[in-house]
Amino acid sequence: MYLLLFIFLTLVYGLSVVVYRLFVHPLAKYPGPFWAKITDGFEIYHNINVGGGLVTEIERLHKLYGPVVRVGPNTLHFNYPQAYHDIYTYGSTLTKEPGFYHGTGAHVITSTFSLVEPHAAKVRRGIMAPLFSRRAIIEIEYEIQEKIDKFIDLLEQSNTSPTPSIEMATAYRSLTLDIITSYCFAECPNTLIPGFSHPLVHNVTETFRDFWIQRHFPIVTKLVNEGPQNLILWLFPKFKPYAKFRADFERQIDKLIADPDILSKVEHETIYSHLLAPKGSDRLSRDALLHEAMLLTGAGSDTIGNASYVGTFYALKDKEIRSRLFQELSEAWPEKDRPFSSTALEKLPYLTAFIKEALRFSVGVIHPLPRVVNANTPSIGNLKLPPGTIVEMSALFMHMDPNVFPDPEVFNPDRWLGGEKTEMMQNLVPFSKGPRICVGLKYVSSPVSLMIGRTI
Ligand code: HEM
Repeated sequence: MYLLLFIFLTLVYGLSVVVYRLFVHPLAKYPGPFWAKITDGFEIYHNINVGGGLVTEIERLHKLYGPVVRVGPNTLHFNYPQAYHDIYTYGSTLTKEPGFYHGTGAHVITSTFSLVEPHAAKVRRGIMAPLFSRRAIIEIEYEIQEKIDKFIDLLEQSNTSPTPSIEMATAYRSLTLDIITSYCFAECPNTLIPGFSHPLVHNVTETFRDFWIQRHFPIVTKLVNEGPQNLILWLFPKFKPYAKFRADFERQIDKLIADPDILSKVEHETIYSHLLAPKGSDRLSRDALLHEAMLLTGAGSDTIGNASYVGTFYALKDKEIRSRLFQELSEAWPEKDRPFSSTALEKLPYLTAFIKEALRFSVGVIHPLPRVVNANTPSIGNLKLPPGTIVEMSALFMHMDPNVFPDPEVFNPDRWLGGEKTEMMQNLVPFSKGPRICVGLKYVSSPVSLMIGRTI
């Protein structure tokens, strides 16, 4: 009897929620598919079922419904530049959406990336900023060069081996992992080994393979982090690479907490010199140190590796692009074995245009980055929205906007040479924009230009 009553009440409640979301909700007037209007399960289905396929579905929905689509009961996705600029620039009135950031960042929950509250994020970003200043990067560029030289040696070696093919995505990931770890921690795992087959690169890749499950069910990550390790890893062996990745950092940080003098013995300043600087109540917890270290390793390796990989793919595919790059680089940098500064490379017009195009094509973070409207938020793309509305726009729509980039699906570095480029520059947002713009932004151009410049 009670069970029947329970089922009946649950059905009535469920039905009322559906009716409310369809006809009474403040976003009821915006178009979108039925399932997206009534449940967040729409996003979960597309992300998990198709491994991050939500963006492809959103592309289809914009063609069907126009520039503003209701992609969740409480979420609008936009497809016009003004909306993008509004969403990501009004930073203090639009905050990161906790569900998304505590899900995607479940393994780094106290890191900059997952901090939702604007003031806390500003303080943490301020602590890290000096390590990613232009000056800091140029000072230790020699280390980046060293790693790239090793990378080139390995590529050349593989060329003379009986099986000369190399998976460039993994090769670049190994290189960027060694660069970012030696940059941030003054020690690196030496993943640049023949065949680019180091287990850590595999571990980082595997860690992100189940990313969508973590995004929608962060409890899984919490369980892996806090549950009895042996039992959890016996039940779910696929989390072993992640557990190993995390344990290595835990060891590094525990050593540092036990003996902070280690910092004065390293070759150059590290991220820990900055993270351990705040004293008293501002001091960062062990978890925060661990999470920042893990975040920087992921954020600084896959992203740069991906942009370089996309660029290399098009340089190899298109003979003209390749020979123009080659010509410009051989004139400017005739002796490739001698170090060359990234500042000089950044002045080469064709290489610069090529890198911009590679960043446009590789997009950066392709998933929409959701923000929550509050009572003080001005209009978004000319729409005044109720507080609590989630707004988002994937950078893909900025980079593939045919009104700004004619023939957007053609990889064409020439579009960045000559003529008026202001609008294109405004639409190029691989690092997002506004107060939560990528922390590593200034760091990126140095390794990318050196990597591409040396590889081509
Ligand atoms: C081509 C390379 C890179 C691209 C395309 C890229 C892209 C992005 C994007 C789009 C965001 C915004 C995420 C959001 O709003 O949720 C972001 C944030 C961030 N990036 Fe990068 N990134 C790159 C390299 C790096 C590097 C090298 C580092 C540092 C080692 C880094 C550290 C961070 C951090 C800490 C954040 C969080 C900032 C915050 O939430 O306030 N990124 N990145």
